[in-house]
Amino acid sequence: MDTKTCKIAFLGMGNMGSAIAGALRQKAGFDSTRIYAYAPHYEKLEKRSKEIGFIPCRSPQQALENADVVIMACKPYQIEKLLGQIKDDLRGKALLSIALGWDLKKYQTILDPSVRIQFVMPNTPAQVGEGVMLFESDNTLEEQERKEIMNWFSKMGLVVDLPTHLMGIGGALTGCGPAFVDLMIEAYADAAVSYGIPREQAYRLTSQMILGAAKLQLETGKAPGELKDAVCSPGGSTIKGVMALEKNGYRAACIAAIQAAMDKSK
Ligand SMILES: NC(=O)c1ccc[n+]([C@@H]2O[C@H](COP(=O)([O-])OP(=O)(O)OC[C@H]3O[C@@H](n4cnc5c(N)ncnc54)[C@H](OP(=O)(O)O)[C@@H]3O)[C@@H](O)[C@H]2O)c1
Repeated sequence: MDTKTCKIAFLGMGNMGSAIAGALRQKAGFDSTRIYAYAPHYEKLEKRSKEIGFIPCRSPQQALENADVVIMACKPYQIEKLLGQIKDDLRGKALLSIALGWDLKKYQTILDPSVRIQFVMPNTPAQVGEGVMLFESDNTLEEQERKEIMNWFSKMGLVVDLPTHLMGIGGALTGCGPAFVDLMIEAYADAAVSYGIPREQAYRLTSQMILGAAKLQLETGKAPGELKDAVCSPGGSTIKGVMALEKNGYRAACIAAIQAAMDKSK
């Protein structure tokens, strides 16, 4: 496969498919003639094709016809039936799948060995270039094409190669985590509103504060506890706030959220 000229077919073009297609168009040098997509509701797909720039197709076969790389971006429960229709059309192609639970082993029980497979778990911040893209380390892509594909995905955020047995917890943390942080943004903003800050401004202040704290940790590499200690002056307001959070089970609640997400995905 020549990754500089290859064509991509999306099977499913919802929230995540659109985020990936948008990034490929805007940041990875794909023009609209190199991206095909199929989804059952053609009018919706056509509307989206005008916004993002890709060729809408009326059948999965039409999307696959000219494609070298296929991105499986429909819901996990829709895949088995779809594979029944397109199994033969996938022969010899690279298949990237972003569907929760559909890892290499699961595809290998269904597909021909000539299909080169990679399971990827992205998350919604990929839409703004700040996602986390987990690549299952077990895969059957060619080494060079995997490097190039990882490079495409790096335009959407951090790309991490993760052992198969850690994809579940990695996905629970980075895939469900944005919703947990959204609750946090809402809660801090509610508090700010209760003291008189207008709501829109409260969201902006809170989100920028969280973004800044995360960036400081990423760029300094310091442990969060060290960064926390640095802003807790003795007898000051921050340590009082930290104690209030501890009293109300803040960290225990975060850990329980991840455990609940893991229990559900079993
Ligand atoms: N959203 C996330 O945060 C996230 C994170 C990581 C991974 N994922 C994975 O990404 C995948 C897509 O999630 P999403 O949030 O983008 O879902 P979504 O917005 O509901 O989009 C699903 C897409 O699949 C299409 N579709 C339905 N049946 C199909 C079929 N038989 N063949 C081909 N396409 C079909 C839908 O088309 P119509 O609209 O025409 O019905 C739609 O375009 C899921 O497997 C999910 O596990 C999502």
